[in-house]
Amino acid sequence: MALNIPFVVKVVLFFCLMNVAEAGVIEADNNRQPQQIHIAYGDDVSKMIITWSTFKDTASAVLYGLSSRNLSMSQQGSSSEFIDGGSEKRSQFIHVVELTGLVPNTTYYYVVGSGQGWSSVFYFKSMPAGEDWGPSLVVIGDLGSANAQSLPRLELDAAQGMYDAIIHVGDFAYDLQADNARVGDRFMNQVESLTATLPYMTCPGNHEYYYNFSNYRARFNMPNDNKKMYYSFNMGPIHFVSLSTEFLYFPYFGYNQIFEHYDWLKKDLMDANLPENRAKRPWIVTFGHRPMYCSNNDNDDCTSHESLVRVGVPMLNIPGLEPLFYEQGVDLSIWAHEHSYERLWPVYNMKVENGSYDEPYTNPGGTTHIITGSAGCSERVEYFEKNPPDWSAFRSSDYGYTRMKFFNKTHLYVEQVSDDQGGQIIDSFTLIKDQHGPFEKLKKTF
Ligand SMILES: *[C@@H]1O[C@H](CO)[C@@H](O)[C@H](O)[C@H]1NC(C)=O
Ligand SMILES: *[C@@H]1O[C@H](CO)[C@@H](O)[C@H](O)[C@H]1NC(C)=O
Ligand SMILES: *[C@@H]1O[C@H](CO)[C@@H](O)[C@H](O)[C@H]1NC(C)=O
Ligand SMILES: *[C@@H]1O[C@H](CO)[C@@H](O)[C@H](O)[C@H]1NC(C)=O
Ligand SMILES: *[C@@H]1O[C@H](CO)[C@@H](O)[C@H](O)[C@H]1NC(C)=O
Ligand SMILES: [Fe+2]
Repeated sequence: MALNIPFVVKVVLFFCLMNVAEAGVIEADNNRQPQQIHIAYGDDVSKMIITWSTFKDTASAVLYGLSSRNLSMSQQGSSSEFIDGGSEKRSQFIHVVELTGLVPNTTYYYVVGSGQGWSSVFYFKSMPAGEDWGPSLVVIGDLGSANAQSLPRLELDAAQGMYDAIIHVGDFAYDLQADNARVGDRFMNQVESLTATLPYMTCPGNHEYYYNFSNYRARFNMPNDNKKMYYSFNMGPIHFVSLSTEFLYFPYFGYNQIFEHYDWLKKDLMDANLPENRAKRPWIVTFGHRPMYCSNNDNDDCTSHESLVRVGVPMLNIPGLEPLFYEQGVDLSIWAHEHSYERLWPVYNMKVENGSYDEPYTNPGGTTHIITGSAGCSERVEYFEKNPPDWSAFRSSDYGYTRMKFFNKTHLYVEQVSDDQGGQIIDSFTLIKDQHGPFEKLKKTF
């Protein structure tokens, strides 16, 4: 699409945004050309966070408007230098601009950059206001740069407007820091057609751990995250919570983070359960990388002993998350890490908590979990133990990803796409909740 910025705007921007030291030299070399453009929701419907990289520092501007022929609004942001931890100490400048004052449910066209180079035109839709609408999301886990098998299908889905946003449940690029972070750069460019158009909401996985998660922290700007790698956001009738399961597995980066994360999570879930909040946004959905349950045959802790995420480390007074999710009535928990797809019956403490035998997902007595980590990466797929445990409802080692459609405050539909089988839906279920809240309380109602 041709970019048509009015001449006056161009001239003004050229003089405003040019590096002073280089005034007079009209230069737009590749190192100042924006790349790796991706967006994320801000902390309310009127905001969008836009992030990109350049290899030489430039100003940080987004020009935007309601048509690609009229990018008359502009917003400045800032850049910071990110130096990868590898031997080359490769440097790049990561730019972030937060757009504010957006009209909800509106398509905006935008370019990012500076007088030294602008991106092509992208567009996004701001989040609709209020709770009475039905978000559609796609959930991916464990997507690498090499063998990104599901990516073409995801790109076509997204191009056809199937989704409002993407959730990536950890493990990016394989790995963001590999080859002195060139693999990370390549990955962020590979997914750009998705992530410059759809809010890309993330959480960290184990593959991000290098140099204390510095590539993850630098490359992603999530709402209210403050680079702590956990946050929550509201979308229509849903309260989404993004978790950091990795603090438990890499305690040497900071033991205290485990407790700060837990305390924050507890407070966040308690706020979400205040009667006025839960009435408005009855769905509570969490996503974090390493699962509480899984039945793969790869000796991860969810198979070989108790999952740290589920039970914590009682000897060290590290609480597990499952009791908290039960107390606070988390409806759906999404995980990845296992390179496969697994759906559980509603469960608590290893015990199946079906709503009823015939309708297990109607008013269940515990959280429903899915594990979706088969988007495609160089480590390929993973397989399962022979005999599924009682809580395991469906398993597949096909490459693929998960779609979620929130019909309304009572009905949430989930389906699994198999890329191996040409996009076929290989699993689906509808979680139906006439009431939401702490499971103990609901038990007394039904
Ligand atoms: C361009 O967009 C701005 C703000 O959205 C609007 O005020 C202005 O009238 C538009 N100009 C044209 C030529 O459409
Ligand atoms: C968003 O806008 C579309 C038309 O562009 C409309 O059909 C839809 O109802 C709107 N959604 C909300 C929640 O306002
Ligand atoms: C790792 O990063 C976190 C967050 O910035 C910081 O609090 C912690 O001290 C760091 N740990 C080490 C070992 O550098
Ligand atoms: C839960 O419901 C499913 C579907 O009807 C059933 O196959 C499974 O055996 C049930 N589990 C228990 C423990 O009742
Ligand atoms: C919610 O959506 C489901 C599925 O489309 C529908 O059957 C149900 O009637 C809807 N409930 C309300 C209150 O609109
Ligand atoms: Fe992982």
